[in-house]
Amino acid sequence: MARVLIAGCGDVGTRLGLILAAAGHAVWGLRRHPQNLPAPIQPLAADLHRGSGLDALPCELDAVVCMTAADDGSEAAYQRAYLEAPAQLLATLAQRGEQPRLLFASSTSVYGQDDGDWVDETSLAAADTPTARIMRRAEAQWLDGGGWRSVLRFGGIYGPGRTWLIEQVRRGGKASNIWSNRIHAEDAARAAAHVLALATPEPTYNVVDDSPAPLPEVYAWLGQRLGVTPPPSHDTTVASRRGSKRVSNRRLRASGFELLYPSYRDGYADMLE
Ligand SMILES: NC(=O)c1ccc[n+]([C@@H]2O[C@H](COP(=O)([O-])OP(=O)(O)OC[C@H]3O[C@@H](n4cnc5c(N)ncnc54)[C@H](OP(=O)(O)O)[C@@H]3O)[C@@H](O)[C@H]2O)c1
Repeated sequence: MARVLIAGCGDVGTRLGLILAAAGHAVWGLRRHPQNLPAPIQPLAADLHRGSGLDALPCELDAVVCMTAADDGSEAAYQRAYLEAPAQLLATLAQRGEQPRLLFASSTSVYGQDDGDWVDETSLAAADTPTARIMRRAEAQWLDGGGWRSVLRFGGIYGPGRTWLIEQVRRGGKASNIWSNRIHAEDAARAAAHVLALATPEPTYNVVDDSPAPLPEVYAWLGQRLGVTPPPSHDTTVASRRGSKRVSNRRLRASGFELLYPSYRDGYADMLE
C-alpha cells in the first residue's frame, strides 16, 4: 500500500483519490477547504500558496500529486496556483529529505501552435501569453530535480457539474473557429493514476481524448442533442488565446492507458443522459 498526497484536491483530485483508495492506497487530500472531501480520502486543510498548514503533511509519502488550480484567470492567480503553491510543496518535501513520486497537473495551453496541426510532447511548447508563460515556468520548476517526476498536460476538462460548454450552446453562443482538445474528468483522474504507477515515466504526457474536433462541430453536435434552434454558429473572426492545434495522446496511449470516453460525443452523451 502506498501513501499518496493529492494537493489541490478538487474535482479531478477527488476522483483520483477515490481511484487510488479503491486500489488499497492511503490517500490524503489537501486544499484550503477540505471539509467535503469524501471518505476514505483523509482531509488536510492547508493553503499551499501561503505555506500554512504544511506541518500537518503526513510523512513517508510515496507519491505527491499537485493539482492546485488558479482562483481566476489573472496572472497573479496563475502565479500563486502554479508557481508559488507547488514551490512551497516542493520545498517542504525537500526539507524533510523525502523523495516521493512527483506528479504535476499542467495544461495543453503550453502549446502555442495555431495552424491546426498535430502536436505531441516533442513539439515546441512555447505559447507566449502571460498565463501560458507561467504554466511553462511551472512545468520547468516541477521537473527541475532528480527522482521520479512527471507532468500531465490536460486538455479542456469536462464532466458532471462542468456544464460551461452546454450552457454556452444553450445561450446561443458562437464557437471560435479553433480545434478543441478535451478530456473527461474521470479519464483525467484515471490517467493520473495510470502514470503514477509507471516505474519510469516520461517527463510529460498529453492527457486528451482520441478525438480533437473543430469547436464549431462540438457546438453543432451539442446544439442538436439539446434541441437548440437556430443551430449554433461559429465566428471566424474570434481569435483565441488557446491557439488552435490538435493534441496527440499517442504517448499516453502507448504507455498502456485506455480511455473510458474516447471522444467528446461519448462523454457528453453520458452527461446528457
Ligand atoms: N479545467 C480545465 O479544463 C483544466 C485544463 C488544464 C489543466 N487543468 C488543471 O488540472 C488540475 C485539476 O483540475 P480540477 O478541475 O480538478 O481543479 P479544481 O476542481 O479547481 O481543483 C483545484 C483545487 O485546488 C485547490 N487549491 C487552489 N489553491 C490552493 C492553495 N493555495 N492551497 C491548497 N489548495 C488550493 C482548490 O481548493 P480550495 O479552494 O479548497 O483550496 C481546488 O479545489 C488543476 O491543476 C487545473 O489547473 C484544468
